[in-house]
Amino acid sequence: MIAGTVQVSSDQAPLVDRQFESRKADHIRLSLDESNQSLGLSGFDQIQLIHNAFPEMDLADVSLSTRSLGLDLPTPFLLSSMTAGHAEGVDLNRRFAKGAAQRGWLMGVGSQRKELFDPEAAKEWADVRKSAPNVRLLGNIGLSQLIQIDLDGVKALVDSLEAVGMIVHLNPLQEALQPEGTPQFRNGLHKLEQISKALSIPVIVKETGCGLSEDSLVALKNTGVTAVDVSGLGGTHWGRIEGGRSVEGSRHRRAANVFRNWGIPTVVSLSVARDLDLDYEVWGSGGVRSGLDAAKALALGARIVGVAQPMLKAALESEEALVTVMEDFEFELKVAMFCTGSKSVTELANVKVGL
Ligand SMILES: Cc1cc2nc3c(=O)[nH]c(=O)nc-3n(C[C@H](O)[C@H](O)[C@H](O)COP(=O)(O)O)c2cc1C
Repeated sequence: MIAGTVQVSSDQAPLVDRQFESRKADHIRLSLDESNQSLGLSGFDQIQLIHNAFPEMDLADVSLSTRSLGLDLPTPFLLSSMTAGHAEGVDLNRRFAKGAAQRGWLMGVGSQRKELFDPEAAKEWADVRKSAPNVRLLGNIGLSQLIQIDLDGVKALVDSLEAVGMIVHLNPLQEALQPEGTPQFRNGLHKLEQISKALSIPVIVKETGCGLSEDSLVALKNTGVTAVDVSGLGGTHWGRIEGGRSVEGSRHRRAANVFRNWGIPTVVSLSVARDLDLDYEVWGSGGVRSGLDAAKALALGARIVGVAQPMLKAALESEEALVTVMEDFEFELKVAMFCTGSKSVTELANVKVGL
């Protein structure tokens, strides 16, 4: 068991650092390539919200406010976890944080893995906080890293961010197909339960684009987690992205092609979750590409809706472009609520969804 930080020998450190930097840059570049998006597979286009020609309200009556993680929030949106700990990411995170603070969205930071072997990496957050003091940040660590650290290690990640919640991400497909991956998930559920019950802030579990099955959702009951983001198939696909990073003609490249559509569609995971008796909040993400998709996720019972790649694309352009896309999503969600006669997200959760 490693207390707090993962030890890397001094001759290994520059290599680990270089590998980390280039992996993060690859992920950003490859996620922007539409062929690495499993678009059309989320299921959002296969379902419809039933139009209500008598909404008996004004568009201005629609309120996006909600409650999640014990917090009152102005919108049900989450800027999903993307980046941390590398040169290109610092400016991006500053933009994300400013946009999220301005629009009142929750913001997940990318994996804080680098902080486990390089305590200097945590300095990024002081800078982000200065740019957006009021942003509500969620920390992030992969389950295969969580297994290797103790409670103090997790607390250090939370403290460096002043996080309002800690996300643990699940990515078995990515770790298996990543040439330098760590596909070690043994004892994961037990570790998750230990940390969730010991940590003083909410723990959120999320997939990363492959969704959660009924068995996985049920397995998370009684673990003490506060929320579970199904993050299903239909958007950014890590099999495809890691395939794009692996050497041409390699086994990893061939396997990534075989698994290019692997995963449970977001709509399927949300529908399965809705029929279960769960003791945590269900969140939805994976292929949410408009405020209408978000409305469908909320109608299927999601408390919070996360968006990653479209926000990255906009933020790379400018801070203003990011805020414009965030406002577009909010407006589209409001229109869907108006046209289903829903004044609140709670009412939206009760509207009919048609096939
Ligand atoms: C460039 C990039 C980096 C990501 N890094 C992380 C990460 O570090 N931790 C995490 O939990 N999810 C990460 N994700 C996954 C997203 O949070 C999200 O679950 C997934 O991309 C599906 O959402 P989307 O279809 O809206 O992109 C990343 C996504 C992108 C596009």
